[in-house]
Amino acid sequence: MALKILLVDPDETWLSAAKAFLIAQSYEVSAVSNGRDAQLSLYNDKFFAVILNYEVQNHSCMQVLKFIKVNYTNQRIIVIVNDKRYVDNGHVSEEKLQKLGVAEMAVKPFEIPYLKELLEGHQSLGDLMASVTKKEGVSEELEVSMTDENFSRIKIDEFYSSQAVLFDIYIKLKESKYLKILHAGDTFSKERIDKYKNEKKIDSLYFHNSDRRKFIQYNNFLAKKLIDNKAVPVLNKVNQLKNVSEKYVEEVFTHGVKPQIIDQGREVCESVFKLIEGQDDLYQALRSFQNFDPTAYSHAFLVTLYSAAIIKQFDWQSKTTIETTAMACMFHDIGKAMLPVEIAKMRPSEMSPAQYEVYKTHPELGLKLVESSRAINNSIKQIILQHHEAYDGTGFPYQKKGNKILTLANIVCLADDFVHIMLDNKLQPTEALRKILTNKEGVKRYNSILIEKFINVFVDPDKLQKEAALPSNSRMAGQRKVS
Ligand SMILES: [Fe+2]
Ligand SMILES: [Fe+2]
Repeated sequence: MALKILLVDPDETWLSAAKAFLIAQSYEVSAVSNGRDAQLSLYNDKFFAVILNYEVQNHSCMQVLKFIKVNYTNQRIIVIVNDKRYVDNGHVSEEKLQKLGVAEMAVKPFEIPYLKELLEGHQSLGDLMASVTKKEGVSEELEVSMTDENFSRIKIDEFYSSQAVLFDIYIKLKESKYLKILHAGDTFSKERIDKYKNEKKIDSLYFHNSDRRKFIQYNNFLAKKLIDNKAVPVLNKVNQLKNVSEKYVEEVFTHGVKPQIIDQGREVCESVFKLIEGQDDLYQALRSFQNFDPTAYSHAFLVTLYSAAIIKQFDWQSKTTIETTAMACMFHDIGKAMLPVEIAKMRPSEMSPAQYEVYKTHPELGLKLVESSRAINNSIKQIILQHHEAYDGTGFPYQKKGNKILTLANIVCLADDFVHIMLDNKLQPTEALRKILTNKEGVKRYNSILIEKFINVFVDPDKLQKEAALPSNSRMAGQRKVS
């Protein structure tokens, strides 16, 4: 069943072009050019979303918005403004529109395909599934030429699909050449995937970056199911969640902090919490990660996971603290998106003093990016700002010291340093921990209680018991079942 969209715009040429585009994207579209007809359509039909031009006449945009607010409280509305100057001179205020129930505002000119993005950002998994036009069987394979930056990669063994494929799936033939092996709406074909995996020894699949949100939505749904399933090995669960968060962080870095992206992040953080909460054997996995295929975005996931594991050791831990910190971890380095690319890619040890000064601005730049977002709470903002402050006052940007630093921020700092040491030097987690502990000066960067709790994450109570290092009733021995 296609999702219905009500398009309202006085510009007939734009209206028909937008209508044609959305129909091609499998939406059902009603297009009208004035406010009165818009209200009539709303009265007669139910819509997934209303896309309303600010300059609509014969019942103004404001009138239509008030009509919707009174009669259809939860209607999803996107308002389109023709001229950026209206926003700049305060004639149109996003806050005022939000109060009237507007989910998003878009300013023309923009390419019509941007509508797809605007709409998909608001779709639940159910909406997404409803919006694909299902076909029996699979379509022909199709070769496409498109640059590599347009694609996201996923390991073939870690690819899962719903019965109807939600988005196009490709394999890479060579640089900038891809083969579409499954089309959105096709019935999922394990045979086709296996053919490439076994006969052609292909180990990765690709999807277009514009489908990243669909990927996150679907895979987070799967992650939740996997985490609940006791029979699934913990490493599969971690990998599944890693894929989701990695693509999520990539999405945040490319599209910035938009309300619907934040909502999606919350769902991912819920899964992180569930993973930390329910798995006794997770700690075994945290101690022995291997082959972690480090990408810029998986870094954020590992920081999230280890921070959450540390918090879990404290008596004051709660679902809210873990989810808040998980969110902050995924956003912690977002300020790097505003640094010159060459600096953002470098490790601090390789930087010149001048470059290092620039690098040191990323926590403040990060805060600036999320500052106006009401969906991101103040603790998250403070963690982003303080994630490089050190307990001994040697950090940046404010050289805060001791208890002046939020404990959660210091936890993220520790997990962040740890993950860097582990990935940069290709060390096992236990070796990376040893490196932190044996650096007498470096270890002062963290509150000593945190270090103690962090060690607990690594302590294998079974092994300790076996070696009779601890009596069976010791507190340490009971710590695998962290409460
Ligand atoms: Fe950072
Ligand atoms: Fe980091």
